[in-house]
Amino acid sequence: MSGSQSSIESTLVENRVFEPAAEMAAGAAVSGMAAYEALYKEAETDLEGFWRKRAKENLVWSKPFTRVLDESNAPFYKWFDDGELNASANCLDRHMGTPTENKTAIIFESDDGQVTKVTYKELLSRVARFANVLKTQGVKRGDRVIIYMPMTIEGVVAMQACARIGATHSVVFGGFSAKALQERIIDVGAVAVLTANYQMRGGKELPLKSIVDEAMAMGGCEAVTSIVVYQRTPTDVNMVAGRDHFMDALLASESDVCPPEMVDAEHPLFVLYTSGSTGKPKGVQHATGGYLLWARMTMNWTFDLKDNDVFWCTADIGWITGHTYVAYGPLAAGATQIVFEGVPTFPNAGRFWQMIDRHKCTIFYTAPTAIRSLIKAAESDAAVHPKQSDLSSLRILGSVGEPINPEAWMWYHRHVGGERCPIVDTFWQTETGGHVITPLPGATPLVPGSCTLPLPGIMASIVDESGQDMPNGDGGILVIKRPWPSMIRTIWGDPERFKKSYFPDELGGTMYLAGDGAVRSKDRGYFRITGRIDDVLNVSGHRMGTMEIESALVAKTDLVAEAAVVGRPDDVTGEAIVAFVVLKGARPEGDEAKRIAKVLRDWVGTEIGPIAKPKEVRFGDNLPKTRSGKIMRRLLRTLAQGETITQDTSTLENPAILEQLAKAL
Ligand code: WTA
Repeated sequence: MSGSQSSIESTLVENRVFEPAAEMAAGAAVSGMAAYEALYKEAETDLEGFWRKRAKENLVWSKPFTRVLDESNAPFYKWFDDGELNASANCLDRHMGTPTENKTAIIFESDDGQVTKVTYKELLSRVARFANVLKTQGVKRGDRVIIYMPMTIEGVVAMQACARIGATHSVVFGGFSAKALQERIIDVGAVAVLTANYQMRGGKELPLKSIVDEAMAMGGCEAVTSIVVYQRTPTDVNMVAGRDHFMDALLASESDVCPPEMVDAEHPLFVLYTSGSTGKPKGVQHATGGYLLWARMTMNWTFDLKDNDVFWCTADIGWITGHTYVAYGPLAAGATQIVFEGVPTFPNAGRFWQMIDRHKCTIFYTAPTAIRSLIKAAESDAAVHPKQSDLSSLRILGSVGEPINPEAWMWYHRHVGGERCPIVDTFWQTETGGHVITPLPGATPLVPGSCTLPLPGIMASIVDESGQDMPNGDGGILVIKRPWPSMIRTIWGDPERFKKSYFPDELGGTMYLAGDGAVRSKDRGYFRITGRIDDVLNVSGHRMGTMEIESALVAKTDLVAEAAVVGRPDDVTGEAIVAFVVLKGARPEGDEAKRIAKVLRDWVGTEIGPIAKPKEVRFGDNLPKTRSGKIMRRLLRTLAQGETITQDTSTLENPAILEQLAKAL
């Protein structure tokens, strides 16, 4: 295991266990450990029967499936594959004619605090109208569409509209650069791009359309024949005649009726790019039926959704969390949800708490990074402390994206949850489609820092490098031994890489390799995630491949000869990126080193996006290498943390270099 281990060191030893409150358990979807264990057992004994029943009950099929799981071409598993349905119909049309049609689907709060509400009926009409726009633009079933939009109702509508006509969307987070966008447009073979002129974040107007133009100008994107632009702000942007169209103008001439295109359950609903251990991001492909089933089931299981809940997941639609728990799950489940355009620190770091109060949010789901930064802010400015807001509406809290350290857990529990709300620490990945290991609010006794137990149907285990089960208490590799409906289907255009990355022969070829290390507790068998075992970092809950950043650095060919990127623990962002760089010229010192470090950071910003900028750059005459020329990243990680090297360095070609690299700029 080479990866960065548990990023946030904990000084707090948390032995306490938080049992679910009786009132919470009483009305919960899974009401107690006995109920959980019975469900788990049911799935274990008859996996297909378990999912057959739930897929029938929870989804609306235009053609019922007869097959549940097809394992004939493992690990390319298929679920419900002879059934037909439409994802948008399962999120919207299904509620028509029920009391949900007039229920608020989305409470949107813009960056500057304006609130807009849409009902399910209104949302359906907007999605249908947008779907007609796509059709008129020539987008057909099976085509791929890139969505590069802000966190707005329009972003959700765009995703749903693609699903409605059977087009496969690929959302690119608005913080990615033109280069990253171009690579995704090419890899997925997009025919259209949906974007906005600008996005508003933290009071600033940030460009989107001009970045799309830049990506298009880089070449290779000729398949894109239409770019639809949502005018988020009044500011003008350049429009290319024939190719670019304002969304509002197109919508004006369309009807708001568009029958959903029925697709088979395995039809790719979306491709979402995520970082892996090579330089090239992976296009994770998800299927319509299994994914949607999971999105809906976990709204009930993990969040115990009730009809009068006000659900708020703070993730951007550019990430998997924003797909499953903004764009699909809450709508499939008929929830009222808050969609927030802005950032947690604008106009002040009390924004989340004020919004919970304003909209009477009952289920709040965010990332440990956000919690940690808001703790810092609240500690230095009482005006933004959660106690200034009335948070009594809250009943369940959630955490996602990275391990939550027990200190942050306790603060979240006390100051946000009023010591009354369970915290569901949900472990999952872009590839798993939805939660896989998580507490259930009415059932699972909570232990801070632990994601506790797998959901029913998730045969999670911890094994050694040859696939043998590890006893509780011993760390190992996290695997899932049997397929589940919302699992990744393949890597877009690269089935070989899919097999190699997730179902390696060393583990027998049918166990899903999560890429994380984990350990189960001796007493309860609870899972605790110890961090990635590959070269993937987790910065502010966002996955970044070290190789991706290295490739970006060495692409600066006029300056950089060699680069190695590692992570170091950071008490706000979880991990921070540290780059060790060998320049083509002499090793710079003093102000010159600082200047070049800035050039390189900005360069990575334009190659990938600001989220990938190294926090620190160190220059050396060389990198620590073995005699066979392999870079010893393990040593670099120790240096990045500011620790002294205690590892054996006798295999190093150039041990003297360590001293030079030990000093930060
Ligand atoms: C990490 C985000 C510990 C893990 C949904 C995983 C977590 C990666 C947790 C996936 C958690 C996510 N506890 N670690 N509750 N949730 N992770 O694809 O390393 O952006 O492999 O999906 O985040 O990140 P991704």
